[in-house]
Amino acid sequence: MAETLESLWRQCRDALGGQYRLVPGEGNPHAAVALVGEAPGAQEEAQGRPFVGAAGKNLDALLAMAGLTREALYVTNAVKFRPTRPGAGARLRNRPPTREEVARFAPWLRREIAAVSPRVVVTLGNVPLQAVTGTDLTVGRAHGRLLPCGAAPPVFALYHPASVIYRPQLRGVLEADMRALAGWLARAGREDDIWDAEKDI
Ligand code: URA
Repeated sequence: MAETLESLWRQCRDALGGQYRLVPGEGNPHAAVALVGEAPGAQEEAQGRPFVGAAGKNLDALLAMAGLTREALYVTNAVKFRPTRPGAGARLRNRPPTREEVARFAPWLRREIAAVSPRVVVTLGNVPLQAVTGTDLTVGRAHGRLLPCGAAPPVFALYHPASVIYRPQLRGVLEADMRALAGWLARAGREDDIWDAEKDI
């Protein structure tokens, strides 16, 4: 029997809750699609929920493009706390998680994905792509197609929606990838054997 998410978060809190303000994953615990971001931001930390800030709005617009809603998904992050660095005055700014921080949360992420057992894991950016696959693959090389992951669910890599803010030329790429994902999900939903559907992509 797979472990439940409730039991997983209890254990995660016991192990790391004293050290970090944890933001657990949330959503449909039996979702066909698990979406993995990088790490929570300030809004997510304040509310204790993933993708509720500006990044969440971007994400919802992107999901709509593939005909997906939050209700159909499970949403989480590779790292379950907000990594920060000092900003102006007393303010804190976000920073990317370190390799050590990603490694510390990788076993929890793996167990989380196993508990949900989705048909596909959609990663947003390099950090979750590398955390989920355990490789140094980059989103520039891997985006927009299904990556088989042995006994684990296959991964579909997307650019992080925030990257479009800094690199507007990526918007078209991200939109095309969303349409490819929507097409694959529609086919996979029609076919019993997901691996047959995968060959079409
Ligand atoms: N960006 C992420 O990758 N995750 C969040 O939860 C919020 C912003």
